Amino acid sequence: MNPTIDSMADQIAVVESAITSRMSARAFTQQEVPRSVLQHMLEVASRAPSGTNTQPWKVYVLQGASRDALVAKVCAAHDALRANPALVADYQEEYDYYPEKWVSPYIDRRRENGWSLYGLLGIGKGDKDKMHAQHQRNFRFFDAPVGLMFTIDRVMGRGSLVDYGMFLQNLMVLARAHGLHTCPQAAWNGFGGIIKPHIGASADEMMLCGMALGYANMSDPVNVFHTPRVDVNEFTKWLD
Ligand SMILES: Cc1cc2nc3c(=O)[nH]c(=O)nc-3n(C[C@H](O)[C@H](O)[C@H](O)COP(=O)(O)O)c2cc1C
Repeated sequence: MNPTIDSMADQIAVVESAITSRMSARAFTQQEVPRSVLQHMLEVASRAPSGTNTQPWKVYVLQGASRDALVAKVCAAHDALRANPALVADYQEEYDYYPEKWVSPYIDRRRENGWSLYGLLGIGKGDKDKMHAQHQRNFRFFDAPVGLMFTIDRVMGRGSLVDYGMFLQNLMVLARAHGLHTCPQAAWNGFGGIIKPHIGASADEMMLCGMALGYANMSDPVNVFHTPRVDVNEFTKWLD
């Protein structure tokens, strides 16, 4: 571990704080993130393990004009989709991020998550306009100056998704070490038909997810949202 950190307790505190201070931020400041920092973070994140060291990640970093142009295109598509729901056929996800059929306890956790967030933002059940606007904040990267898109070669197996998750978590935890926050985003997945030509991804690549990255605006109430976790003993079986 880091030889400049004195005690084991300090080592634990540093790692734990990076992990526990990660949260999905949904409001960012305009402060730019230096490219050298992004480059370094990606380099360190790529120390993630992967089956037979296949390293299945492919990353696209959008800043400035490329970011703004993608935001404009996808926000327009999102609005058009709302106006004409039949367009949904044009915006299909390339893989099932969520289950086809929701069951308990996952549906309960999903509902609790959604309504807690909307409650915090003062969005009631019938507020379709506000819901649309909040959902669209995804397609503005929640105002973050850096948008990341992650793709994976279609030929890879499901195991590579396990590897990829480790890479993504590395990146999100590392972001904390640099004073940055993130929001991983599956919301973009249905818009691969717009995103992939924009970023120059090949037809062999599948959209995995997007991510907003930047300095969180901690005075925005949306970032007060703190999600619960189930108790360890609820998801762990101890076998002696
Ligand atoms: C792969 C992935 C995709 C996600 N997609 C979205 C998204 O599109 N929009 C969003 O606001 N949050 C998204 N989230 C954030 C989750 O809602 C969040 O991780 C969860 O509620 C737990 O909260 P926390 O990240 O603050 O700990 C995503 C998370 C993951 C891991």
